[in-house]
Amino acid sequence: MDGFSALIIDDDAGFRESLGLLVAREGYEVREATGLEAARQRLSERAADVVLIDLSLPDGDGIELLRDDSIRAGSEFIVVTGNASVESAVQALRDGALDYLTKPLDRSRLKSILAGVARTRGFKMELARLRGELRELGRFGRLVGRTPPMQRLYDLIERVAPTEAGVLLTGESGTGKELAAETIHALSRRRERPFLAVNCAAVLKSLIESELFGHERGSFTGAENRRRGYFEEANGGTLFLDEVIEMPAEVQAKMLRVLETGTILRVGASEVVPVDVRVIAATNRDPAGAVRSGALREDLYYRLNVFPIPLPPLRERVEDIELLAEHFLAAVNARERTMKRLSPAASAKLSAYRWPGNVRELKNAVERAAILADATVGPELLPGGAAGPPAPLGDQGPAIQVHIGSSVEDVERRVIIATLEHQRGDKRQTAMTLGISLKTLYARLKVYQAAGHGVPEPGQVPQPVSDGHRAG
Ligand SMILES: Nc1ncnc2c1ncn2[C@@H]1O[C@H](COP(=O)(O)OP(=O)(O)OP(=O)(O)O)[C@@H](O)[C@H]1O
Ligand SMILES: [Mg+2]
Repeated sequence: MDGFSALIIDDDAGFRESLGLLVAREGYEVREATGLEAARQRLSERAADVVLIDLSLPDGDGIELLRDDSIRAGSEFIVVTGNASVESAVQALRDGALDYLTKPLDRSRLKSILAGVARTRGFKMELARLRGELRELGRFGRLVGRTPPMQRLYDLIERVAPTEAGVLLTGESGTGKELAAETIHALSRRRERPFLAVNCAAVLKSLIESELFGHERGSFTGAENRRRGYFEEANGGTLFLDEVIEMPAEVQAKMLRVLETGTILRVGASEVVPVDVRVIAATNRDPAGAVRSGALREDLYYRLNVFPIPLPPLRERVEDIELLAEHFLAAVNARERTMKRLSPAASAKLSAYRWPGNVRELKNAVERAAILADATVGPELLPGGAAGPPAPLGDQGPAIQVHIGSSVEDVERRVIIATLEHQRGDKRQTAMTLGISLKTLYARLKVYQAAGHGVPEPGQVPQPVSDGHRAG
């Protein structure tokens, strides 16, 4: 770590001195400042690789320094907050701080943060390269798109990737949330370590805790061996929690504790294990609405939502459609050793379509058309001109009865299965009627099947559903 410099800004001389000693021990050359004015002065003399700053200073709020672009660009900021006010630390992360520490200082955390500074300096150079060279071509890592909404997305990713901040990706199905999460990981100091994706809707509710946190041998029936959970598997890396709202309430409470303490407790274990995992969460529902309806714990929401990133739907960036289509077609061509082209009429049709399934639907449509086409992909092979989604049934459809005492999970399953029956097994229609994504529907059905519940097949004639005693 030789050759790195640090500036410590704090009005408490004793604290400055003891923090200074610890930082110097990590090989940093240390300077000190008592307030904002003095800090500006020191930084104008010479930049510091890392600035450790207390937010409440006698001559102002430390955040001001962070918001000064010319100052922030030159250094990594680590916020040291005395009053356990995580709120202000979170704001600092949003403003570009690398990480935060709370007083009293945890020495091992300080050490690991300082070790990350050097690597972070390296990524920033990599990021600058990505920005310069690739953005002009409409690319950012594996993300394709050059419209203003995508440029804003790249800005956000660039800002958050090198930090340790939690990220909540929101957006409709198929808008690229998982790809964005992978990009954040690839541009972080964790990139050499695993990136693991867990779909919370696809794991049996009774097993999700042990899948995430692992279990000890014999902790429940079927737990024959000790098992490491996703958190341990992802240690040092990034865990992508997809469809995070589907996580059961008890597991949400445990998740919050993991995020707050950096330790996990395996199912059936008595001792906690430290883990170093960055969590990136995603949902295609409205998380604030889920908090209001009680599906998502408010405190977990605040933890995950330190850095919210919305993914724009494809219909709001029509100018990207052709670029994306060409990109997917080129990938098929490379794979199949062909040289197929989109006809101008095909391009026009693609741009006119609304793409309810967003980039995923476009990718599938282009790949399918490319396989069917000879040399030129014409408009007849592509979607468009179709009717819009069906109106929800509202209270016009047949009814199911629910008994007081049923669990929410039970009610949800019965509504889903009854709707699927009503739609004669048509999953797309069912998902639209229920207002959930097709992927969520598939995940649910998989869980129901695994649990031995009957799931209607396409074309199956609907059964009467008005008596509340349907099996399953
Ligand atoms: N901007 C983009 N550039 C290139 N490919 C993209 C882009 N956005 C999405 N894709 C591709 O589209 C597909 C769907 O993306 P992804 O799985 O990230 O969506 P998602 O938002 O996670 O969807 P869901 O909510 O259904 O899980 C993937 O194959 C992904 O590689
Ligand atoms: Mg996804």
